[in-house]
Amino acid sequence: MIKLKTPEDVDAMRPACRLAADTLLMIEPYIRPGITTNKINQLVHDYTLAHGGIPAPLNYQGFPKSVCTSVNHVVCHGIPSDKKILNGDIINIDVTTILNGWHGDTSRTFFVGDVKPFVKKLVNISQQCLELAIAKVKPGVTLGDIGHTIQRFAESHRYSVVREYCGHGIGREFHEDPQVLHYGKRGQGKALQEGMVFTIEPMINIGRPAVKKLRDQWTVVTRDKSLSAQFEHTIAVTATGTEILTLPSHQGAT
Ligand code: MF3
Ligand code: CO
Ligand code: CO
Repeated sequence: MIKLKTPEDVDAMRPACRLAADTLLMIEPYIRPGITTNKINQLVHDYTLAHGGIPAPLNYQGFPKSVCTSVNHVVCHGIPSDKKILNGDIINIDVTTILNGWHGDTSRTFFVGDVKPFVKKLVNISQQCLELAIAKVKPGVTLGDIGHTIQRFAESHRYSVVREYCGHGIGREFHEDPQVLHYGKRGQGKALQEGMVFTIEPMINIGRPAVKKLRDQWTVVTRDKSLSAQFEHTIAVTATGTEILTLPSHQGAT
């Protein structure tokens, strides 16, 4: 069951979404070779609390930390640890913030130091997958249209789309209906309507699409150890198109 949001609900979600986006912006200058993912976790945790929010991942279905940090071939749900990130790595930081009972969910993949051109290309194409999908969103367009847009663009660059994890409705709950698949066929699936609020968060691999979960029950990696990148926004379907809710309060460097 999709819980449609009223304009007042969307107004109420904006601060949560903006705080999540501001948290990603805050963290950007810290993404340098030598920082541990635990330190990133601590910075996200402290910033969230200092702004009146709650980090949604902490204790969510037993997740032990306040943010997901997914390095290189980790697809998603990486658990912060005392491991350092290194020059040439890529790291997805996935921030989900609860503020006044509403959730905002956004992630970016960052470059650590100097990253090889073929890796940069993966990251840039992954970001474009999200942007192209968002540009399609308006009432009447189907979920299949969204998934197809992502799949077609990723595969045109000979990348693959992860199937096991998807975008999701979001609001008072972290994960609501509908599931937003990042692959699909034009015209299939539910039609979008005004008041839907959901994430789009494609995970794009250089190699094969298959993934596996590690024994920690969280960390998802590519089976072939190829690199994976991801970007995520929380968006609202409006009467005429879409509003990206997870934009930072001050638009600075990207
Ligand atoms: N933020 C992730 C998403 O985009 C979910 C993380 S669940 C957690 O849906 F428990 F690992 F935080
Ligand atoms: Co999400
Ligand atoms: Co997320």
